Amino acid sequence: MKGAVSETQPQRERAIPFDIERIREDFPILGKVIKGHPLVYLDSAATTQRPTVVIEAVDRFYREQNANVHRGVHHLSEVATREFDSARVKVQRFLNAAESHEIILTHGVTESINLVAHSYGGKFVGAGDEILLTTMEHHSNIVPWQMLAERTGARVRAIPIDERGEVRLEEYEKMLHPGVKLVGVVHISNALGTINPVRTMIEMAHRHGIPVLVDGAQATPHVKVDVQALDCDFYAFSGHKLCGPTGVGVLYGKTRWLEAMPPFLGGGDMILSVSFEKTTYNALPYKFEAGTPPIASVIGLGAAIDYVNSLGFDRITAYEKDLLDYATATIGAIPGLRIIGTAREKAGVLSFLLDEIHPHDIGTLLDQEGVAVRAGHHCAQPAMKFFGVPATTRASFAFYNTREEIDALANALHKVKQIFSL
Ligand SMILES: Cc1ncc(COP(=O)(O)O)c(C=O)c1O
Repeated sequence: MKGAVSETQPQRERAIPFDIERIREDFPILGKVIKGHPLVYLDSAATTQRPTVVIEAVDRFYREQNANVHRGVHHLSEVATREFDSARVKVQRFLNAAESHEIILTHGVTESINLVAHSYGGKFVGAGDEILLTTMEHHSNIVPWQMLAERTGARVRAIPIDERGEVRLEEYEKMLHPGVKLVGVVHISNALGTINPVRTMIEMAHRHGIPVLVDGAQATPHVKVDVQALDCDFYAFSGHKLCGPTGVGVLYGKTRWLEAMPPFLGGGDMILSVSFEKTTYNALPYKFEAGTPPIASVIGLGAAIDYVNSLGFDRITAYEKDLLDYATATIGAIPGLRIIGTAREKAGVLSFLLDEIHPHDIGTLLDQEGVAVRAGHHCAQPAMKFFGVPATTRASFAFYNTREEIDALANALHKVKQIFSL
């Protein structure tokens, strides 16, 4: 795969050196051949690939450091605990959280959001209250709130979006009032690629005293996140979308909320003392971390954070912007192709329809060419419904993709059209 820097590329990209060939070598799986073709992995919104340093960190843990954390007095347990605690501090710095106890380690963004819906929702949301969510939320930021609404008699309302796939801020403004107990917004939409104006939306909600939860699943791999600058109340992300292992995620919460919230799951580690008469809970962050955590995955996440930091977010964001612009122009020029999601601020995702061909057929035929994309509703059915489509084909990018891979996608799409004689 040739490097990204060529004569045809814009000045901006040449000014930001990004040694794509070197970077691709960090990801062993990218060298695979699938069905006789070099793998073109365009499904990073579903899960990113992992660099060797992450694979090795997990491997090293099991080979050399494996023990449970926070429990033992023996050497291995101390080593494991030190590595685990240091990964939490890496996450804290990564998000620029004020305190490490504001970082709750979970199993993924889905669990993080369920934690807030149960714990914050159980305490602060009652009958007649409202939860506002954008129409483009992933199901994991809709269903937990609907379940809360069923339990409490609260109401979930959808913040409208427009034809580009942008939040209609003037409608959002009208929906804010003191009866709203939480706003949930996806930072970057996995179905449309929209980068939402989360800072503005948070400011607007805070004027009414409403806390905001940001689903950062698709943002942390693409843009620098600063929870203090955003002033969000909660921020959730998953390790596996950030080149880290599966089974680990993060919930950032402001101290004052986390202190005020009851525990979510009960069990070991989240208590100070247990008796049948009275149990007292542990301090933050442990109050929300019942049971043995995904230790190896947390350590792997720390390695992933070190890795993406070493590339630099200014360079990652600029490189990916160039890639998305190139993909939008190249793929968008294919006759009969309609891009779904044309927000002015976009990252990482190109969702599209091609003539009348079903996205699943497109995905299956692209796979024959070694091109891995996703086809379906992307766990964002309300967004699909808004655009009047049941499904799209989605190519999603990461910093390890290249223009050549986008050309491979375009060529494969032309073949799909030929097969359907279109
Ligand atoms: C925007 C968004 N939110 C939430 C999730 C759920 O993430 P996980 O399955 O890692 O919990 C995803 C996964 O695709 C996502 O894209």
